[in-house]
Amino acid sequence: MSEQPFFSLQGQVAVVTGGGQGIGEGIARRFAAAGARVAVLDMKADMARAVAEAIGGVAVECDVASAASVARAVAEVRRRLGPIDILVNNAGITGRNLLMWELEESDFDRVYAINLKGVFLMCKAVIGEMIERRYGRIVNIASVAGKEGNPTLAPYSSTKAGVICLSKALAKEVAAKGDITINSVAPAVIQTKILDTLSKETVTYMVSRIPMGRTGKIEEVAALVHYLASREASFTTGQCYDISGGRSTY
Ligand SMILES: NC(=O)c1ccc[n+]([C@@H]2O[C@H](COP(=O)([O-])OP(=O)(O)OC[C@H]3O[C@@H](n4cnc5c(N)ncnc54)[C@H](O)[C@@H]3O)[C@@H](O)[C@H]2O)c1
Repeated sequence: MSEQPFFSLQGQVAVVTGGGQGIGEGIARRFAAAGARVAVLDMKADMARAVAEAIGGVAVECDVASAASVARAVAEVRRRLGPIDILVNNAGITGRNLLMWELEESDFDRVYAINLKGVFLMCKAVIGEMIERRYGRIVNIASVAGKEGNPTLAPYSSTKAGVICLSKALAKEVAAKGDITINSVAPAVIQTKILDTLSKETVTYMVSRIPMGRTGKIEEVAALVHYLASREASFTTGQCYDISGGRSTY
């Protein structure tokens, strides 16, 4: 039997995008507690720095919507921490909370660039090295909105559906290339500052559809992501895990 505690991430290098607050911060804290050396990536450098200092990790400024910024950030992580074992694509925005016919083209472009293209760019930046090393874990934060489609959140819902399927496609591409798994998680409403960007009606609608009748906690999402990012989660890939208090029916 191994002497390591269950789901140890001892010595592993983990990257968490959007790690400056909310769910990403919770994941970064949990990974560090499990022994990982964590790179906290965020477009808000000061927030990334505060979290990195608290957990003994490194802060790297990164806008996941920009290929140049992603390339710079990933190179910096490798220089400071070494090869990347774990990537969590958590950075995301809801976009403006409006009916589809009230939105502009630019609303869709912005949400798409961060929520879906950003995941593509980050995965592309790390996957080659994971294939070379025949090891890696990628966990992408989707949303239950990507399964059910929330009214007034069409760009958000559709890009999160894209995250679920991007994860499935990449998982199959690398399934036989070593111990590399790609999964996504689909939270329902989790109590973070992202909720301040939505109308009260939208939040009430989303909570009313959760059979457990409550919002989720950051720590509950972090626990699920921790398992999927661990060595132990080695025969599970291309899956989308709900963390939704029973909201999704599939
Ligand atoms: N909170 C919820 O109810 C909920 C539910 C389902 C899914 N999610 C998803 O979980 C993830 C985290 O959500 P949260 O509630 O913690 O949000 P949050 O707004 O509290 O935090 C998001 C973080 O991402 C960063 N970020 C935004 N755009 C970025 C970019 N272009 N590049 C780098 N960093 C960027 C922000 O600076 C912030 O630190 C998102 O992908 C969100 O869609 C959240």
